[in-house]
Amino acid sequence: MRIDLISIFPEFFDVLDLSLIGKAQREGRLAVHRHQLRDFSFDKHRSVDGTPTGGGAGMVMKPEPWALALEHVLTQAQPPAQAQSPGSEGRPTLIIPTPAGEVLTQHTAQQLARTEHLVFAPGRFEGIDQRLLDWAPQHFDVRPMSIGDYVLNGGESAVVVMVEAITRLIPGVLGNPESLAEESHAHGLLEYPVYTKPARWRGLDVPEILLSGDHAKIAAWRAQQQDVRTRKLRPDLWAKHVVAQEKNLT
Ligand code: ADE
Repeated sequence: MRIDLISIFPEFFDVLDLSLIGKAQREGRLAVHRHQLRDFSFDKHRSVDGTPTGGGAGMVMKPEPWALALEHVLTQAQPPAQAQSPGSEGRPTLIIPTPAGEVLTQHTAQQLARTEHLVFAPGRFEGIDQRLLDWAPQHFDVRPMSIGDYVLNGGESAVVVMVEAITRLIPGVLGNPESLAEESHAHGLLEYPVYTKPARWRGLDVPEILLSGDHAKIAAWRAQQQDVRTRKLRPDLWAKHVVAQEKNLT
């Protein structure tokens, strides 16, 4: 997968060189390219923002530096990255982080993990001039996306969250792929509780069944714990799960 990150703070993404995502880059499973948006602004101050037309508070990002940066990415990307992106006539997916976007879910992360080329355009200030969003679909499959119903100072931290959620699902990125099948949200339920040694810690015992060695009983207990936890901690997810199960039965 190729990922392009365009920002006035490209150094924000240095964290992506750490841990498993850094390793995936070194192993060639993932290529992350960072771009300084100001390199595509050609006035004296390399400015990327202006006052809102019609008045109002704050500053709005100009469309031209964004369009030039995105065109640069298009010309830089190798033909295979552009040609293989599924479901979009070969166009890369452009993710615009915004609290007004579709909220990222595990299901969406799974879909995006199968694309060849993702481009992230995190805005600052009051956002990007709307005309950039009207222009971009000529070249990209555009997805305005949010990481939750709250407001951040800029989209960069949302990009880090999204890149981590998506890239850990690329085959080979996680050391133990089995953990993907069992973790929270993989099948619409939360994960069961986990324990390690010692069997008794500060007067608290590991559930007896986990020490039994009976794998079928342990699996049944864990499945039941997933139900109990989801019903208690996330009744919204539980309601969706019940509806999905009813559909499968009919
Ligand atoms: N930019 C500001 N707030 C955001 C959010 N909640 N998700 C994605 N991008 C954002």
